[in-house]
Amino acid sequence: MTAMLARAQRDRYAVGNFNVYSYETIRGVLQAGAATGRPVIVAFGERYLENMSFGTVVAICQTVAANLDVEYAIHLDHCKSLDNVYRAIKAGFTSVMYDGSALPLEENLANTAAVVTVAHALGVSVEAELGSLASGANSQESEDNEQQVYTDPAQASGFVARSGCDALAVSIGTVHGSYQGEPNIRLDILAGLREKLDTPMVLHGGSGTPDDVIAACIAGGITKINVNTEISLDAATRLKESLAESTPHLSVISGRIVDYVTASVTGYIQQFSR
Ligand code: 13P
Repeated sequence: MTAMLARAQRDRYAVGNFNVYSYETIRGVLQAGAATGRPVIVAFGERYLENMSFGTVVAICQTVAANLDVEYAIHLDHCKSLDNVYRAIKAGFTSVMYDGSALPLEENLANTAAVVTVAHALGVSVEAELGSLASGANSQESEDNEQQVYTDPAQASGFVARSGCDALAVSIGTVHGSYQGEPNIRLDILAGLREKLDTPMVLHGGSGTPDDVIAACIAGGITKINVNTEISLDAATRLKESLAESTPHLSVISGRIVDYVTASVTGYIQQFSR
């Protein structure tokens, strides 16, 4: 992932990070990467371990990608458990996000640095988080009622330098899930962060963020954008509409989900690389 983000930073676009939890979603994301000729990040969070194991994610990615021309990273999204970070690396993930954002600063820093030592020795990149996002409706990544804590530019450069992380998730007003009010994205905080940091910055909570704000965030130095909720909402809505007409075989439903996810992710990739 580090090489992908370095290119994005140089050429001023953002790489899309899309959450997966099934064969259909993995195939949809990889197909969208192949269709657009752009790198993609296949992101799997520990909360979806009930759906599939780390090893299954890696096996499906490798099997599906073998028949496609696509550059991809297999990334562990929002992982609070150090055990799970190391399990994912062992299973073949090429990138991990250790999320110590709810911990006191020094503990977040120490844990992130420990992950970096192991991950880098194995050629795996590391994303860390400083500050935290509020939870919107149907959030998949945060607990209900989680509060917004903006990333402090004064803390960020020391955190990155001391932890050695390759990318930093920043909190500038996006929420995990659907916005419940008007989005208020603090581009001034992003500008302050960019002044202090050369490291690629990651925007979580891409769903529902207005197009012009996404463009301003990319212009302001965001090089990776995470989207989950809206892809699922979009595909589920289209599936519901199609099922109102007939009740097809599950094999047909599986194919439709792949198509819906491919179309939705293709749109985001195009938007992020304009
Ligand atoms: P959304 O569900 O709001 O798009 O957020 C996804 C995300 O940030 C994954 O890490």
